[in-house]
Parts: sequence; C-alpha cells; structure tokens
Amino acid sequence: MRVVVVGNGTIGSRHATYLREAGHEVVTVDPAGGADHDRTSRVPDPARVDAWIVATPTAAHLPVLGEILRRRPDARVLLEKPACYPTEIADLARLVRRHPRSRTVVNDIYGHSGAVRRFAESVRLHGGADPIRKVTVEFTKNRELDVANGRFVDTQYGEAGYEYFHMLSLLRSILPADLYGTYLRTVPAQVTPEMRVKTSAENLPEIELYASSTGVIGHPELAGFAFSDPAAKRHITRSLIPYGENLRYRFADVELMSGKHITLVFEVHYGADAEYKNKHAVHIRDAVSWRHFLISGNHFKEALLLQLDLLGRAMEGTALLRLPEHRFLAGLGWATSTVLCHSL
Ligand SMILES: NC(=O)c1ccc[n+]([C@@H]2O[C@H](COP(=O)([O-])OP(=O)(O)OC[C@H]3O[C@@H](n4cnc5c(N)ncnc54)[C@H](O)[C@@H]3O)[C@@H](O)[C@H]2O)c1
Repeated sequence: MRVVVVGNGTIGSRHATYLREAGHEVVTVDPAGGADHDRTSRVPDPARVDAWIVATPTAAHLPVLGEILRRRPDARVLLEKPACYPTEIADLARLVRRHPRSRTVVNDIYGHSGAVRRFAESVRLHGGADPIRKVTVEFTKNRELDVANGRFVDTQYGEAGYEYFHMLSLLRSILPADLYGTYLRTVPAQVTPEMRVKTSAENLPEIELYASSTGVIGHPELAGFAFSDPAAKRHITRSLIPYGENLRYRFADVELMSGKHITLVFEVHYGADAEYKNKHAVHIRDAVSWRHFLISGNHFKEALLLQLDLLGRAMEGTALLRLPEHRFLAGLGWATSTVLCHSL
C-alpha cells in the first residue's frame, strides 16, 4: 500500500517505521523538515494514495483531514486520538458527513490489542458465574521530561487527552456494550485533577480510572507484584516514578464478587528485558490460587496494521470516530478545570 503519514513527530515516525517494516510504501508530510513534503497539498497524485494517517498535534487534525478530503473525497484515513478538540466535535462530524464516500477511523490501539483481547477472554471466563464487583484501570507515567523537551501538550482535554482513550478501550473490552454505554452516560461520582475518575451507579460495577502524568502511582498494590526488576518494584512501592524514568505503570484490574482478581499488567519486564515494551502479563488470583500467563506482541504495530487492513476493506461512508468517548472525556476536562478554578 502507498500510505501518507501527515505529522512526522514521535507518533507519526513510529507509524512510518512500522509501515515500512511491513513492506508498505510511506510518504511523509511535516513542515518541521526531514519529511518528503512540507504540507499535505504538496503530496503528488492523491489518486495513487491508498491510506492517510494524521499524526499532527490535535489542533491540526481537522484542517489536515479537510485538506485530505478536499483532494481525495473517498480517502481512507486513520486519525490519531483525540480526533479533535471538544469544541470541534460537531465540525468533525459535519466534515465526515459532507464526504459520504470517505472512510475515517480514529486510532484505537488498545481496542485492537491481542493482550487486551486475551485479558477480556479471561474476564469473561471467570466472570460468567461470578459478577464483576470493581474495575480499576491505572495508566501512570512521569511525562515531565517529555514536556520539558517540547513534546505536544494537550491544553484542552488536559490529563484526559493522553491516556483516557486507551483506558476507555480497556473498559469497553471488559463491559458488555449496554453497560459501557451506561458508563459513558453516567456523571462520575468523583473527578480529581491528577486525575481520578470514580463512578458508581445502579447496574454498573464500581469503576475507577486513574492516570497521573507526574508519576504519582495510585494503586501500587494492584499490579506492583508483576514487575520483575527490583528498581521498578522499588519505584512502585514508593508510589512515585521519578523524573526522567521511562517506567510506565499501566494495568487493568477486575475484582469479582468472590474476591478473585484478574489483572492485565503491561510492560512487566521494564528494566530487565530490552524487549519489555512488547511483554505483558495476566494474573488470576484469589485466596487459594495464583497463576499468570505472559503475552508478547507490539500492540501499537498490531493495531496499526489491523486498522489499515480494516480501512482497506471498509465500505464507503465508514466512520469510527468514537464521538461518545470524546464527549465523555471533554466533560472530564471541563470538570477538572472547574475543580482547579474553585481551588485557586
Ligand atoms: N495513539 C497513541 O497512543 C498516541 C500517543 C501519543 C500521542 N498521540 C497523538 O498523536 C498526535 C501527535 O502527537 P506526537 O506526540 O507525535 O506529537 P509531536 O509533537 O511529537 O509530533 C507532531 C508533528 O506534527 C508536525 N505538524 C504540525 N502541524 C502539522 C501540519 N499541519 N501538517 C503536517 N505536520 C504537522 C509537527 O512539526 C511535529 O513534527 C496527537 O494527536 C497526539 O494526541 C497518540
């Protein structure tokens, strides 16, 4: 396939690398230099492009998508998440509607991850006769060095713009579709700025999503045991990932009514294995037994190639924009900015 990657920064260059590794022809666009073209309008012969990937900062997604669809109304486009800013959601929906032959998909790495699929299968297997009591998802990283180095900062969704799309994908993999819909429509009981989002409602299990981009770990006890490297374990026990440390503490834990836990922990061999980014573990434990299995695979690459294949086969008019999730996250962004204003 001939794929144009618009935005050749951290994420766009990863897309380009994986596409080339898979044998695709890649054309890059970036005004910052080092790309094949400095703007989308300069890509020659758009009729020969099989797919486009938009990986610019979020503020440029809508104008870039508009330019692509102007030049190629039936384009197949993989749009990085968030698809657009909260105030642009209606404009995005309108733009896509105005191009009924286009196919647009918002990147959903965790929604297409083999590790998440195997975890969700385990939850269904054990949760059949033992309902879910609580779901806890945590994605913590110390991003302060990234930010100091000038990496794109989400000024509108705030904390919710980084990890929450992934965390929602995990939740979506665990909950039946109707309950997931209920979750997105339920006003959370608590939203804190760091950010912790707690929801409890009739018919829903207790749900807590927690993410920190300053490295403050919320639930060391739920997944710290899974890490093999002593230094990583130490950071987790102290509930703090230091500045400049690349450790990512990411897990989804399901507690069943019986007290059994099923936990997916990402990158468990951080600090102990050069290939740690592609090794994850599922632990299944209760008072009398504890077992686990490892899952290997690069889920960024897996999801990219899978979604490219889906786009290639998608019917005209296909639009997987995850708009209810964008609206939910926009609400969280507003909730935290209101909390911050009140506490000033
Ligand atoms: N799917 C994921 O897991 C994931 C993770 C991180 C970031 N993202 C998303 O990816 C996007 C890019 O983030 P990043 O961290 O790579 O940012 P980045 O700042 O590293 O890279 C963005 C690049 O886009 C270029 N650019 C800016 N305007 C452009 C335009 N009009 N046309 C072409 N290129 C343009 C910049 O020069 C820069 O090189 C954001 O939307 C972000 O939310 C997704």
